[in-house]
Amino acid sequence: MKPLYRAKPLDGVWWITGASSGIGRGVALEAARRGFTVIATARRLEALQDLADEAAGLSGRIIPMACDIGDAAAILTLVTDIEASYGPISLAFLNAGTYRPVNAYPFDAHAFHEMFAVNVGGTINCLAAVMPVMCGREWGQVALNASVAGYIGLPRSAAYSGTKAALIAMAESLKFDTDRCGVTLQVVNPGFVETPLTAKNDHPMPFLMPLDEASKLICDGFETGGFEITFPWQLSRILKTLRLLPYALYFWLVGRATRA
Ligand SMILES: NC(=O)c1ccc[n+]([C@@H]2O[C@H](COP(=O)([O-])OP(=O)(O)OC[C@H]3O[C@@H](n4cnc5c(N)ncnc54)[C@H](OP(=O)(O)O)[C@@H]3O)[C@@H](O)[C@H]2O)c1
Repeated sequence: MKPLYRAKPLDGVWWITGASSGIGRGVALEAARRGFTVIATARRLEALQDLADEAAGLSGRIIPMACDIGDAAAILTLVTDIEASYGPISLAFLNAGTYRPVNAYPFDAHAFHEMFAVNVGGTINCLAAVMPVMCGREWGQVALNASVAGYIGLPRSAAYSGTKAALIAMAESLKFDTDRCGVTLQVVNPGFVETPLTAKNDHPMPFLMPLDEASKLICDGFETGGFEITFPWQLSRILKTLRLLPYALYFWLVGRATRA
């Protein structure tokens, strides 16, 4: 088996999806601080341009490019354009995602389809573009941004937890193949991080982490971490323990803890 690859600033560029706000934005800035060139993508080009301006003066740089991860053909073209104009993609952080709480009744099928289309379908479109390129040249690094919400079905999170469980299972399964061709595959499972996405929450968010701290931990994990990058350790450990419980105990405990 080939030694697993870790991206270095001179190898090529990082591609970060969902970089116009939140975690993608924070990680792009942290990567630029560490000397990497980052292709930052999302639908809102103006927000990406602001991000590029904010990175001016750092040792790396940020290049904004607009795209919708739901458009498979556009993503294929984007990856070809990035490689032709800026060099090989050494690391792809497939981070773009969306969240809305849902209930069993009323059942909002549109919200389910939207979250599966962006979080899972969009990530698949990005993988379809980047995997052949990296596996073909036998090096590269890919990280999927899932969530600790993917460990287990949490209240009001049927759609979101479903999408994130799918990403974790996809990463676990693909790793058997990527390991053989020298491509490092990682999954990022954050707990609550201060971003526009969590600002919508009206429930308590235990161990809520500042964006800067989360961004540093993710970049550290890209440099030296193992398959899973997860934080804060307290929430991650609690949820991993809950998923080991018998269902009757799990539903009783989580139902009691979240009833209010
Ligand atoms: N914040 C947390 O506590 C937390 C915890 C665990 C996991 N996560 C995951 O982290 C990722 C980022 O979340 P965040 O908290 O940073 O949220 P955010 O601030 O709302 O950022 C979401 C990003 O995704 C982009 N995006 C959404 N739909 C897109 C599409 N169709 N095509 C391209 N880009 C799209 C948005 O950009 P445009 O609108 O400009 O396209 C935005 O840049 C998500 O996958 C989320 O599930 C977050």
